[in-house]
Amino acid sequence: MNDLIEFDETQGLFHLHNQQISYLMAIEDFGLLSHLYFGPAVAQYHGQRRYPRRDRGFSGNLPGAEDRRFSPDTLPQEFSSSGAGDYRIPAAEIYQANGSKATDFVYQGYQILAGKPQLPGLPATFVQDQAEAATLVITLVDSVSQVALDLSYTIYRQRPIITRAVLVRNQGQTPVRLNKIASVQLDFPATDLEVISLPGAHVRERQVQREKIGYGVKSFASRRGATSHQMSNFISLVTPATTENQGAAYGIELVYSGNHALELEKDQLGQLRLVAGINQADFSWQLAPAEQFQTPEVILAYSDQGLNGLSQAYHHLLKERLVRSSWQNRPRPILVNNWEATYFDFDEAKLRPIVDQAAELGLEMFVLDDGWFGHRDNDRSSLGDWVVDQRKFPQGLTHFTNYVHQKGLKFGLWFEPEMISRDSALYRAHPDYLLAAPDRQPAPSRDQFVLDLGRADVRENIYQQMAAILATGQIDYVKWDMNRHFADLFSSALPADRQGEVSHRYMLGLYALLERLTQNFPQILWEGCSGGGGRFDAGMAYYMPQIWTSDNTDAVARLAIQWGTSLVYPPSMMTAHVSAVPNHQTGRTTSMALRGDVAMSGMFGYELDLTKLTPTEKQVVKAQIATNQQYRALVQQGDFYRLSAPETLAGCAWAFVAADRSEMLAFAFSELSQAQPVFQLIKFVGLDPQRQYQDQATQQVYGGDELMNLGLYRPVASGDFQSWRYHFRAL
Ligand code: DGJ
Repeated sequence: MNDLIEFDETQGLFHLHNQQISYLMAIEDFGLLSHLYFGPAVAQYHGQRRYPRRDRGFSGNLPGAEDRRFSPDTLPQEFSSSGAGDYRIPAAEIYQANGSKATDFVYQGYQILAGKPQLPGLPATFVQDQAEAATLVITLVDSVSQVALDLSYTIYRQRPIITRAVLVRNQGQTPVRLNKIASVQLDFPATDLEVISLPGAHVRERQVQREKIGYGVKSFASRRGATSHQMSNFISLVTPATTENQGAAYGIELVYSGNHALELEKDQLGQLRLVAGINQADFSWQLAPAEQFQTPEVILAYSDQGLNGLSQAYHHLLKERLVRSSWQNRPRPILVNNWEATYFDFDEAKLRPIVDQAAELGLEMFVLDDGWFGHRDNDRSSLGDWVVDQRKFPQGLTHFTNYVHQKGLKFGLWFEPEMISRDSALYRAHPDYLLAAPDRQPAPSRDQFVLDLGRADVRENIYQQMAAILATGQIDYVKWDMNRHFADLFSSALPADRQGEVSHRYMLGLYALLERLTQNFPQILWEGCSGGGGRFDAGMAYYMPQIWTSDNTDAVARLAIQWGTSLVYPPSMMTAHVSAVPNHQTGRTTSMALRGDVAMSGMFGYELDLTKLTPTEKQVVKAQIATNQQYRALVQQGDFYRLSAPETLAGCAWAFVAADRSEMLAFAFSELSQAQPVFQLIKFVGLDPQRQYQDQATQQVYGGDELMNLGLYRPVASGDFQSWRYHFRAL
């Protein structure tokens, strides 16, 4: 027993609770584990809410049941089998040697552990001391196949968070094949919950979509081998009345970077089932006797303070108990990246003036993007050959990195370690290193192919190549890119009946490689990237504190992208750059001021040819750098609040509030200006209503309650694409 987890033996009830949330389960007839409740805390559960019994036509019973009113097809459950009378989406599908996939998982026992065990080989949230969380492991067993499921639930003491994962153990005498194994199932009583998801596309990631949930099945998924730009692996379930600051909001977030599916089913009785985990499309896994399979972790959160409350819960958890980098709380260097400045057309002589200019303007890091290795003058060659191109750097890379360092700048370098070009020495030496089906041409995408990272020898090759460069000690930052999705799921290293394992083995291989590199080079600031935000997820955040949010650097488009991303990920994870106008993705021209304010709302940098700036623009850049240096700790470590959504008449606004509520930096943005403008209020959130705050620009003093309840009228925009900054300090 533990003060966070109780088991009532007489009633067969499990209660996980802290000051904020409760999670309740019960052992039912036949050992089924039912889900009773997840939501605001109840101090003590007296056992009165049990699932009512009723005979429902065509919802059958369990073998040997006398009571026709008890059906696995209607009971809210913790982890449903398939082929045992529950017709809703199953959480597990396990084929046995005889071809049957029927399983009937029943309660066998439980264990309560202090703290939270880590998941072998997988990213996961952690604890710093054993008292801050407790873990309940409930074991279910299918008596025929002797497959056991260890369902683990960790509750954090101070957070409205429960993490879950499942360990499958084959205790039988014959192999089984996992066809589906979810990380979580969560059943809700009849409900009018709505779902918020984050669909998108390349250069248009994580756009907020909110919809009613109708009868039937709805799935938010990726089978692209990566989290994807197209559908994030997070959803929120909210009541129709939930707003940014009020109402109930549940969050479901996978700690995984590969194929995922978050499935919802509203059943015949209006009850809602959620099942989430590795996408069963392109997945199967052989489990020999005595073998185990660990699912990825899922983070469940609940807030009764609307979506901002939910986001705060995730932001704090990810910043404090997922990201492990030594850079998590250190000021991130203001960088200039040469991608949009030069693309592939550069050499040391052409880059030096950009470096000179960066130093003169006060930037802190120069990042050399794609094109420095092999003979890569375009995107058709050299991936896999992590050797500097002597044509571009005749005196070697170190000659250039020395130059950058002598200018007082840090040096960052781009890699795309998971990929191979056919035009590469690596491909010529190891044509079998890429994923490709026998006798078929693998499908190119950006003219590149995916390395089989499930293979230890492939990982070793890439590790050695990268380590040789990183070990020079010249590299302060690495941008880890990944620019295509999987198509040819076949590994030359696996037998025919294991080809369904390729995608997940790839992820395990990727995580192993990332672990080795980030642990062996912990001083490096690692940034994730996948054609922008194609793999923006909690799995990658375990290794890398920041991720390139989108290849779309247009400030206006970025408002919606950063807004949507912030639903679950903190600004400390989002990198954002000021780029040239007309913008390379949208063709739009916006002011330096707007571009600066949007980029400063994340981890800040530039992505343009600094030598082409006008004298006035250079002054603006200098001022922006000073401003960012003043505010970056607040942006990185403060609490982020969404105030008003992009693409609304009022216009986008958001704020960063210090943990002790002594300071607030807020931004308001306007998109298209109006001829007969409606006066719009901006109401701030997260301040202390008892304290007085001084506007640092006007010296005007306001009560925290005034700023939050009365708000201020926003300035009226004259002209499109404007932004305003507010900075208040408590007196
Ligand atoms: C995609 C990234 O998102 C860009 O920033 C850039 O690094 C290119 N790849 C380089 O190929």
